[in-house]
Amino acid sequence: MYEEKKKRRNNMSAFVFSRLSILCAIFYICSITLFPESVTAGITRHYKFDIRLKNVTRLCKTKTIVTVNGKFPGPRVVAREGDRLVVRVVNHVSNNVSLHWHGIRQVQSGWADGPAYITQCPIQTGQSYVYNFTITGQRGTLWWHAHISWMRATLYGPLIIYPQHNASYPFAKPHKEVPIMFGEWWNADTEAVINQSLVTGAGPNVSDSYTINGLPGPLYNCSAKDTFKLKVKPGKTYMLRIINAALNDDLFFRIANHTMTIVEADASYVKPFERDTLLIAPGQTTNVLLKTQPNPPQTTFVMAARPYFTGQGTFDNSTIAGFLVYDLHNLPSSDNVPSKNLSIPTLPPINATSFVANFSNKFRALASEKFPANVPRNVDKHFFFTVGLGSNPCPKNQRCQGPNNSSKFSASVNNVSMILPTTALLQSYFFKKSNGVYTTDFPSFPLVPFNYTGAPPNNTNVSNGTKVVVLPFNTSVEVVLQDTSILGAESHPLHLHGHNFYVVGQGIGNFDPKKDPAKYNLVDPVERNTIGVPSGGWVAIRFLADNPGAWLMHCHFDVHLSWGLRMAWIVLDGELPSQKLLPPPADLPKC
Ligand code: C2O
Repeated sequence: MYEEKKKRRNNMSAFVFSRLSILCAIFYICSITLFPESVTAGITRHYKFDIRLKNVTRLCKTKTIVTVNGKFPGPRVVAREGDRLVVRVVNHVSNNVSLHWHGIRQVQSGWADGPAYITQCPIQTGQSYVYNFTITGQRGTLWWHAHISWMRATLYGPLIIYPQHNASYPFAKPHKEVPIMFGEWWNADTEAVINQSLVTGAGPNVSDSYTINGLPGPLYNCSAKDTFKLKVKPGKTYMLRIINAALNDDLFFRIANHTMTIVEADASYVKPFERDTLLIAPGQTTNVLLKTQPNPPQTTFVMAARPYFTGQGTFDNSTIAGFLVYDLHNLPSSDNVPSKNLSIPTLPPINATSFVANFSNKFRALASEKFPANVPRNVDKHFFFTVGLGSNPCPKNQRCQGPNNSSKFSASVNNVSMILPTTALLQSYFFKKSNGVYTTDFPSFPLVPFNYTGAPPNNTNVSNGTKVVVLPFNTSVEVVLQDTSILGAESHPLHLHGHNFYVVGQGIGNFDPKKDPAKYNLVDPVERNTIGVPSGGWVAIRFLADNPGAWLMHCHFDVHLSWGLRMAWIVLDGELPSQKLLPPPADLPKC
């Protein structure tokens, strides 16, 4: 519509060259320079997602997996800032399904966020649901994934948001852009893996391989033919849109003999910095610029990833590799390069916590005029949340295989392990039927303080419930997320729905409310949707609760999520119509 107005105005000034139209033209030019982001309105893009079974072979085993449109990884969703996405999801499988658009703010459209039993009931067999939302004020790499049980093991794909037509990147346009999605592959049925763990209380089995864009690569059994190859030309800049879709593992990533310039994190621009090795946690996305060598000494270089882990349990300790392959006319066909003679780049030790701290501290918001860091300076509400593992006692007449072989593993925030309701939180809130669904007494601070990162308490039992924090519209919030050493200190990638937050501080050990806030960065803190709470440490985040709805915050390790490391915020409506949650769509699934 705006485009039309613009044309008319241009025509008018061409035909009637009056003073008025000159004034008009001046005003028009001024308005472009003053509001560069608001010049083009978006378009609507339609996608159809059929949830279907598909036989897929990896590691010499054929398995039936749940897919979108028979694709693994799932299809790429592409849009521009300002566009509306309309994704019609039809469930043809026996599992319940819901899809989440990870990192999308969902301003006023909380019904489209996707976490099962939080913003919607799952889409049951034969049912469909249309996710309908507008992408406002965001551009960059995000992703979509299933948000129920462990269905995201195979239901995930990139969600790429380009800048508006008239806008550009705050760096030189890359020659090419390539999504790189890390995942995990299980030979076993992942639903059986997590269901069994929840019954016995034991840690679940770990994956059989990692994958890059669904491919395990040459370091795994009979997978050489399933290797991701990034084909490049010499002396060019490529933008890698890196996504960690793994279920339970932080990953280090490196490309032999190349460095990467990090330019974006979780679809927010950052001050560029260069590294040879990255760390990326599940749920996080990052864009990097890769400059290829002008005269590479060989055609093929190995890229590799392996986990960062400091916990006590077992994890998939394998390494995934892919190839960076130069298209050089004077050398033999790159596809025939023997992988034996190639060296795998050295990655940090599995428990390299100081590397991780260093890397994570490097992220700074671009904080430019166009992309300011709107970090809340004044805090209306302070929260201190412990995050970590715990246990649940074994039910009578059952044998449990969790901690001490006599209890069940659990995980909690402020010692509350969240039980999902049997109806969606958002519906109960919106229709004022919260009775028996949730209570509003989620603790703002630990009820029983202890030495969080010291010797763990004898009693590791958690409490179980469905409690939320209610926030008035536009509350500015600070949350200190404190890791605990109960059953092992571990980095937890905490993800917030419906909002981005600013990472204003982090440190090791216990947070010190007297000394640590003085060291906060309120100038250019990175803006993200997922942050690794340091293993045996803390991180402080701030956000403005300006999006009415029910928003989950949780650990993006699916094992911890299933164990209850999650809580929810309910953000109330504001006064203006634009500050209110809209009514649910008619096809919202029922429980
Ligand atoms: Cu990427 Cu609540 O999820």
